[in-house]
Amino acid sequence: MPSKIVRRNSMIHGQGVFATAPIRKGEEIIEYKGKLRTHAAVDDEYGGNDTGHTFLFILNDTYVIDGNINGNTARWINHGCAPNCKAFVIGDESGNPAKDRVVIEALRDIAPGEELTYDYDIQVEGPITAKDRKLWACRCGAPNCTGTMLKAAKPRTRKPAKA
Ligand SMILES: C[S@@+](CC[C@H](N)C(=O)[O-])C[C@H]1O[C@@H](n2cnc3c(N)ncnc32)[C@H](O)[C@@H]1O
Ligand SMILES: [Zn+2]
Repeated sequence: MPSKIVRRNSMIHGQGVFATAPIRKGEEIIEYKGKLRTHAAVDDEYGGNDTGHTFLFILNDTYVIDGNINGNTARWINHGCAPNCKAFVIGDESGNPAKDRVVIEALRDIAPGEELTYDYDIQVEGPITAKDRKLWACRCGAPNCTGTMLKAAKPRTRKPAKA
């Protein structure tokens, strides 16, 4: 099946992904591809990068998909506060986290020329700082843009108190 999307310059940020043909609500548009890596490996390599720019997708508690390596067009899809797409994690039936996959699906009908967006759902541990807000500022341009890609902070993981 010919691809219905193309990568080109975006008003939101850098390069984005645009529809080149009508896409129906519920249609699976593309799988997010890249090298499967552990959180530790990705933190080691990119932990010092504080630009907020990332081609990483958190797949599950064990793995991250690194779109920098063997990535495809999906890695260029920008975040939007009124997204027309959603990124679904499809869990492996046998429960093998290395076989989970991410697919991008249309949340509504999308017309040719529209930019594809999904909610990045960025979460940080602990309270959200001014630095986090700056790093993850949203410029999607939607009327309901919240100005940030961040969701409410995740509670810090605590070790149980000793008895
Ligand atoms: C996976 S890349 C998407 C492709 C990106 N536009 C590019 O040209 O490299 C994700 C990065 O794009 C930027 N980005 C994506 N959506 C954005 C938005 N709504 N507002 C501001 N920056 C955004 C952020 O720097 C984010 O870390
Ligand atoms: Zn926004």
